[in-house]
Amino acid sequence: MVIYMPKPKIYVTREIPERGLNKIKKYFDTEVWPEYAPPPKPVIIEKAKNVDALATLLSDKIDAEVFDAAPKLKIVAQMAVGFDNINIPEATKRGIYVTNTPEVLTDTTADFAWALLMAVARRVVEADKYVRTGQWKVSWHPTMMQGRDVHHATIGVVGAGRIGYAVAKRAKGFDMKILYYDVIPRPEMEKDLGAKRVDLDTLLKESDFVSLHVPLMKETYHLINAEKLKLMKKTAYLINNARGPVVDEKALYQALKEGRIAGAGLDVFEQEPTPVDNPLLKLDNVVVAPHISSASYETRSQMAEMVADNLIAFFEGKKPPNLVNPDVMKVRPLSKLF
Ligand code: GLV
Repeated sequence: MVIYMPKPKIYVTREIPERGLNKIKKYFDTEVWPEYAPPPKPVIIEKAKNVDALATLLSDKIDAEVFDAAPKLKIVAQMAVGFDNINIPEATKRGIYVTNTPEVLTDTTADFAWALLMAVARRVVEADKYVRTGQWKVSWHPTMMQGRDVHHATIGVVGAGRIGYAVAKRAKGFDMKILYYDVIPRPEMEKDLGAKRVDLDTLLKESDFVSLHVPLMKETYHLINAEKLKLMKKTAYLINNARGPVVDEKALYQALKEGRIAGAGLDVFEQEPTPVDNPLLKLDNVVVAPHISSASYETRSQMAEMVADNLIAFFEGKKPPNLVNPDVMKVRPLSKLF
């Protein structure tokens, strides 16, 4: 294996799972931020000054300020499928390659959307609290803890990429009617799963469960706002394990508080960590999690290894397998880099 000599320098912004970190340490002159919380921005800027590569997480803001401080920086390898924390046009302009970790987390993330969906529809978290806090005083009652059926209901998948498809595939097993909204048609959704492509308003009006799987971009910021929430059924649930800012949280709170929708399952928030006084946390019909949809041991290990593999390929002079800004190859071709 020919690798760029001397050993490229890398700053890794967290202790990523060892399957990836050990591989990185083998090939690179590696420094790792040792704390559980993210490094403050001035630390990233300071560290970026002398490195050839950064390995980042979605909580690290990697923008023009970081790039300006980093004359040797050639690649940012992110351990996540989403990369809205990285300013891609600024990276591309400067000839900096950016990679992500798609696919390995698709099923794990879809499973978690389902965990939220089932939990909120069948009141799993409320029921757990009910038992633990001694409220269960009558052995069985016909109206105790009634929720909503998932099977044979209609699910509306917003964003039918890899994760949206995997969520819809699971819905088929529950005999659900599947609607989807995407800016481009996804024939495999229709062919494999019998899903129907509709516009967003129709999806919101007709679905019992609305599950969000779009990336965060200008076009998807507050895609689900007060006006859109008004279209949903009173008995419908909103599931978001995409990105917090896709939903206007204040409008969601109002809709839930006024009983205009039935509940929500949220793994992501407009601000993360979400403040403990976020009013959404006071509502029993909201199930929450701390952005952990891809957090299985297997998947997180694979994601870390993909970070290492993207970096190694790049420093061997090859196109990294998960390059998200291919235009960068025109700005700074690999042949000019090494
Ligand atoms: C997690 O949110 C990811 O983008 O991988």
